Amino acid sequence: MDNEKIVELLNKMRVEELTAIMQYSQHHYLAKGINSPVVSEIFKKLSIVEMKHAYAIAERITALGGTPTMKIDKVDVPEKLEDMIRVNCEVEKGAIEAFKGFIKDVSEDPTTRRMLEDILADEEEHLDELGKLLEN
Ligand SMILES: [Fe+2]
Ligand SMILES: [Fe+2]
Repeated sequence: MDNEKIVELLNKMRVEELTAIMQYSQHHYLAKGINSPVVSEIFKKLSIVEMKHAYAIAERITALGGTPTMKIDKVDVPEKLEDMIRVNCEVEKGAIEAFKGFIKDVSEDPTTRRMLEDILADEEEHLDELGKLLEN
């Protein structure tokens, strides 16, 4: 895979990260209900981690000679706290699948691969943390 193709894929993942930042922060502000103080803080914490991912990806893009995108996808803001957690689980699942596929494709670029593996580990943690909230 050439650098141009890697940049294109990194920008695709950056769109997901930027969307996750916005979605988590919006959920942080709009969470209501009995468990909302705790969950709302988790949303805030996760939005900050997604921002670190967006930065890491952008830095790799510029190192490869590309331009980081500012595009974001549609943000989903359900009214109920439980539905917020569910849509975030879906975002994390989608990211995990996408990163796994991407990691296979960039095996010949160890720097990009290592970065993606670190981000993947975080996304798996996020899914686990959100999943536990739904068990209670
Ligand atoms: Fe992320
Ligand atoms: Fe995440």
